[in-house]
Order: sequence, then structure tokens, then C-alpha cells
Amino acid sequence: MELLKQRFKAQADKLGEEIKVILKEHGDTVIGQTTLAQVYQGMRGMTALITETSLLDSQEGIRFRRHSIDELREKLPKAKGGNEPLPEALLYLMLIGEIPTEEEVEHLTSIIQRRSHVPIYVFDTMSALPKETHPMTMFVVGVMALQGESHFARRYANGMSKKDYWAATFEDALDLIARIPHIASYVYHRKYKHGKPVQPDGLLDWAGNFAHMLGYEGEEFKDLMRLYMVIHADHEGGNVSAHTTHLVGSALSDPYLSYAAGMNGLAGPLHGLANQEVIKWIFEMQQYLKTESPTNEQIAEYVKKTLAEGKVVPGYGHAVLRKTDPRFTAQMEFGKKYMPNDHLVNTVWRIYETVPPILESLGKVKNPWPNVDAHSGALLVHYGMVEYEYYTVLFAVSRALGVLSSLCWDRALGMPLERPKSVTTAAVKRWLNKEVQNLGD
Ligand SMILES: CC(C)(COP(=O)(O)OP(=O)(O)OC[C@H]1O[C@@H](n2cnc3c(N)ncnc32)[C@H](O)[C@@H]1OP(=O)(O)O)[C@@H](O)C(=O)NCCC(=O)NCCS
Repeated sequence: MELLKQRFKAQADKLGEEIKVILKEHGDTVIGQTTLAQVYQGMRGMTALITETSLLDSQEGIRFRRHSIDELREKLPKAKGGNEPLPEALLYLMLIGEIPTEEEVEHLTSIIQRRSHVPIYVFDTMSALPKETHPMTMFVVGVMALQGESHFARRYANGMSKKDYWAATFEDALDLIARIPHIASYVYHRKYKHGKPVQPDGLLDWAGNFAHMLGYEGEEFKDLMRLYMVIHADHEGGNVSAHTTHLVGSALSDPYLSYAAGMNGLAGPLHGLANQEVIKWIFEMQQYLKTESPTNEQIAEYVKKTLAEGKVVPGYGHAVLRKTDPRFTAQMEFGKKYMPNDHLVNTVWRIYETVPPILESLGKVKNPWPNVDAHSGALLVHYGMVEYEYYTVLFAVSRALGVLSSLCWDRALGMPLERPKSVTTAAVKRWLNKEVQNLGD
């Protein structure tokens, strides 16, 4: 662990120096104009954050440290016998900024394995909740129960120096990443299976072990988990879960508090919950149309019904992307390889043929193409994971890699408390009427 920390610190110090120069020479450079519409309408397109781990291009999709999803699938080390990249390798890339060697990934996997113990009181806390509790609520309660383990919180209480914030954050981030698969798998068993935690397998990689703890031992499912954990890990800094984790962390709330806050945002239907909404919507469509394999015409009819009821088509659209999400395409490739004749997966592909022209015809949807959530559920159902309310927990486990790496960077770069200015509509009106010179006076 010390070697990894040293490498991270060296990279952070180097970047910190570069940022000092950038700010000294260009700190007053104006990067764009902010319109009233942006302020009222969710700050779309407003560049307002620095996030080092990934960058989203509206046409190309996400790049992690400049590497596309396709490149990651090709270049990142894989588990022995597996075909998909190891999520630990992506974690290394986001933390250190370089594609790791197989040995470097093995080292990180062993660090994670050694930190994976979850105290029994965490499971007891989750068991105290009624069984009907949503899996995301159980999961976040489990994470919060673990918060007493935070190095950052303990060291801060004991008067930690600012220069050590990053190191305490780094320890917490690795502990959390190591432990949350155990918490998440317990949520699955408590809610849907035998109700007991399953012990980790110390010989498996992070995602393979997660599949094992969930009770899925097949090699294909393990590979699906590796792919799933890689593609959901990060989507630059402005999405709700990443931004919330960053914002809460900026108050020096420890990584447990910050990550849990971010995951409460992931649990919203316009964000991470969309993966459960997609499969629920497809199941309802099958029931309504009385067929497992609806035709394109039948799908179009159901899409129009959904829109007429004032609902969104889940899994379609994006606040930044303007093309088919490459994370959707990566899952489609997985489906074509392992389950080309699956009814549900084929329905997802027919929905892909049908929905974009309909959304386009509305004339207001900026992106009629599918996002990551449009596909994931159908692959999970193929392997028997039909409990769709659980899907966002899988997303949350993956998202830990991105938001916690970013939190390490935030503390290492000394990011300050985030506190933008807000105004009232009355103040906007005064300003538009030229009663005041500056908006907010
Ligand atoms: C992701 C999402 C929240 C982005 O929102 P956004 O940035 O405001 O999107 P747009 O600017 O394209 O929205 C413009 C209009 O199109 C509508 N729209 C966008 N996506 C839509 C969809 N999938 N189905 C129906 N209408 C949609 C919006 O609701 C909005 O309508 P309004 O003006 O009547 O309020 C939106 O596309 C959505 O709700 N998608 C479905 C949920 C989903 O898949 N979420 C996961 C995202 S990864």
C-alpha cells in the first residue's frame, strides 16, 4: 500500500505544481458565459468543476484518463481466463494516471483483499431494517454503519494537519472499495435469498469475488461483473453521484459520509435508478402486449403510450451525451457474444431500433439515443438476477471506484469548500429591470 500511496502522492504533487502555474498565468482567463437559462435549467453545459479521473465527450462518450471504453477493454489487464478488464486496473488508472501492468494490478487486488473485512455490527444494522426497505437504502445504511471506521474522521478529531488529508482519504477510499461488495452482497441475500452474509473468496479478484458473494459462480457472470464494474465506474464530475460526493467531501466530511451522500443521489430515477426502471418498463410492456418478444410496431405503440402518460422512456436520453452511449454498445457486444438468442436481450435491441426516431420526432429531446441503463438489466436477467430493484446497488459498488478516486485527488490537490452563489427570482427581476447593477445585489 505504501508504494501505491507514494506513486499517487508523486503524481498529485506534480499536478499540483502544474495547477499553480496555470492559475498564476491564466487564473483570470474567462472560460465562457453563463446564461440565465443555464442557472434555471440544471447548469447544463456550464464548466464549473475539475475532475481528473475521466472526461465525457458529447459525441464519443466517456474517456478514462483519455482512454475510451473500447481501449480499456483492450488494454487493461484481465483476470486469468477472463475476457473483460479488471476493475482494479481501472482504479489504478484513475488514481495513478497510467495503465498498470499485471503485477501492479495483482498488488492492488491483494491490498483490497486484505482490507475487505466488514464488522458484524454492519450486517446487524442492515438486518434491523424491514425487509421491504429498498436495496439502495439498505446499502447506504450499511455504508453509514461503517463510518466509525473512518481514518479521516478519527485523525481529523485528533488534530490532523492539512498536508495529511490526502493520506487519510486514500486509506478510507481503499477500505471502502474493499468492503462495499460484502455489504452489497449481504443486501441481496437479506432481501431475496437466505439472509446471511457470504464469506469472500480470498483468491478471487474484486469483481469475481463480488459475483461469488452474490451467489453467481459461473465464469461468464464473473466477466459480466468485471465489465459492469468498469463501465459504470465514472462519468466525469458533474453527474449527480460524482458531484454530490465531491461537494460533501469539500466540507471535509469523510469518504464514508461523502460516498453515502453521492449514492443517495444515484438512487434517483433520473440517475442510477434508471437501470431498474428500464427492466420494470420492459416487463410491464411484455405484460401489456401479452408477448415475450414484441415486434418493433408493438414496441412503438407502447413507447407512445408511455409518452402519452407523461412519463419518460427509461434508459434513453442524457444530459451531456448526444450519441449512443459506448457503455450501451459494450454491453450489446457482450450480449451478441454470449446470448445472441435471448428474448429479453433481443427486445432491448429492438427497442434500440424503435425508440430514437420516436423521441426525435418530439422535437425537444436533445439526445434520443440509449444510455448505459438501457441494456444492463437484460444481461443480468439472462443469468438469473431478476430482482431489478437491486440493480442500482451494483451501479453503486462500481461508482465507488470513480468517486472515491476523485475524492483522493480532491484532498491531494487541496480543493476548497464548494460554495457557489445563488440568487432569488426577485433578485433576477431587479437586475433585469436595472434596479441593481449586479445580479445578487
Ligand atoms: C437523462 C435525462 C434526465 C436528461 O435530462 P435532460 O438533460 O433534461 O434532457 P433533455 O434536455 O433532452 O430534455 C428535454 C425534454 O426532453 C424530455 N426527455 C428527455 N429524455 C427523454 C426520454 N428518455 N423520454 C421522454 N422524454 C425525454 C425531457 O423530459 C424534457 O422534457 P420537458 O421539456 O417536457 O421537461 C433524460 O433524458 C431522462 O429523463 N431520461 C430517462 C431516464 C434515464 O434514462 N436516466 C439515466 C441517465 S444516464
